[in-house]
Parts: sequence; C-alpha cells; structure tokens
Amino acid sequence: MIIKLLEGKNINLRIAEKDDVLLIMRWWSDTQYMGEYQDVMNKTQPELEKIMLENTIFFIIEKKDGVKIGHITGWMIGRTMEIGFALIPSERGKGYGTEAIQLMVDHLFLTKDIVRIQVTTDVKNVASQRALEKAGFVREGTMRKYFYAKGNYRDHFLYSILREEWKEPKILTKKTSQIKKHTGSHNLEKK
Ligand SMILES: CC(C)(COP(=O)(O)OP(=O)(O)OC[C@H]1O[C@@H](n2cnc3c(N)ncnc32)[C@H](O)[C@@H]1OP(=O)(O)O)[C@@H](O)C(=O)NCCC(=O)NCCS
Repeated sequence: MIIKLLEGKNINLRIAEKDDVLLIMRWWSDTQYMGEYQDVMNKTQPELEKIMLENTIFFIIEKKDGVKIGHITGWMIGRTMEIGFALIPSERGKGYGTEAIQLMVDHLFLTKDIVRIQVTTDVKNVASQRALEKAGFVREGTMRKYFYAKGNYRDHFLYSILREEWKEPKILTKKTSQIKKHTGSHNLEKK
C-alpha cells in the first residue's frame, strides 16, 4: 500500500507534487514566510524541482480542509536526517508546527534506517526551539556563526532526537506510515 498522506489530529502531511512547486517558490521568496531569522530563497522552477528531487522527503503541511499552510522537508547526512520547516504567518502559534514535527519524526523513524534527526535553528528563534522541545528534541549545543542571514553570521542551536529517545510513535502507526520508499525522487516524476 502506498500512502501519500500522514494524518495527524489537526493537520496532515502530504507528499509534495509537481503542482506544489509554484506555491513553494512563492513561499520561499516571501520574507514573511521565511520569518525573522532566514533570508528569502529565490529559486527558479527547475532549481526548486531539483531540490525537491534531491531532498529525501518533502511534505506540504495541510489543514484538515486541505488548505496548504506550510512545508516540512528532510535530507540525509550519513545516517542522520536533517529537517527544515515553516508555516505561513497566519497559521503560526496554533500548535501546527509542533504537530508537523511530531508526524515527521514518527514517519522518519518508522520508515528510514536512521539513528538521529537533527535541526539547526537561530538562537533567537524561540518558537522553533519550543516546538522542537515539545516534539522530544534535545539541545546539543551552539554552532557559532553557523548561518549567514539578514546581513550577519548568526549563532545556531543544534537540536537532535535519537531513535532510542523516540522509542515509539506518538501519532502515527506503522500502517499509516507506509509511504512509498523514497530515494530522493518522490513524486515529481509521476506527472
Ligand atoms: C517555527 C514554526 C514552524 C513553529 O511552528 P508554530 O506552529 O508557530 O509553533 P507551535 O504553535 O507549535 O508552538 C510551539 C511552542 O512555541 C511557542 N511559540 C510559538 N510562537 C512563539 C513565539 N513567536 N515566541 C515564543 N514562543 C512561541 C508556543 O507557545 C509553543 O509553546 P508552549 O506550548 O510551551 O506554549 C513557525 O513559527 C514558523 O513557521 N516560523 C517561521 C519559519 C521558521 O522559523 N522556521 C524554522 C526554521 S528552524
């Protein structure tokens, strides 16, 4: 069975399709969407399609009525999966970010042979830090001058969750996480 949707309580994660590319381009080139701590990323359509193909996993975050409110994506570094995410400003602070991260963590540990999931986030990005902590991530330390954004080299906290800390799914079951195995080529080539 191939499931393209991870169903949460208030939101779903749906595997990004070719039809989503223009929306993601618009989001990534929008200063409001990228938030206070990241620069916009102006990508052409082919550049973004390449990123979506190369990243191991790329989801659109949707509300239960199908409205698209953000993205969450992951890429492999050895046997670590690094993830990144954002929501449209009007849907922040409602618990959706935390739920998207929890769904992603369950899905990744259920379906990938990985030992850890990690995220780096600006030391001032409290919303991201709190969402990660609520999803079980632990702050490992500070990466000094790690990321250049908004005209400065910025310190980042490195957060991670290990497979043994996760222990068991919080939202998903094995059955609901049987998304087709990704090799970095999910769904863009299907249309
Ligand atoms: C980071 C982000 C995805 C978090 O998602 P969210 O849906 O807004 O967060 P949640 O509603 O799940 O809140 C998680 C926790 O953070 C707290 N929080 C949310 N926004 C906050 C803010 N602006 N300042 C301080 N705390 C905040 C919430 O109160 C909650 O903690 P609590 O339950 O202890 O009260 C979202 O804010 C966002 O898209 N930001 C812009 C892009 C970005 O920074 N991406 C992350 C890059 S690493």
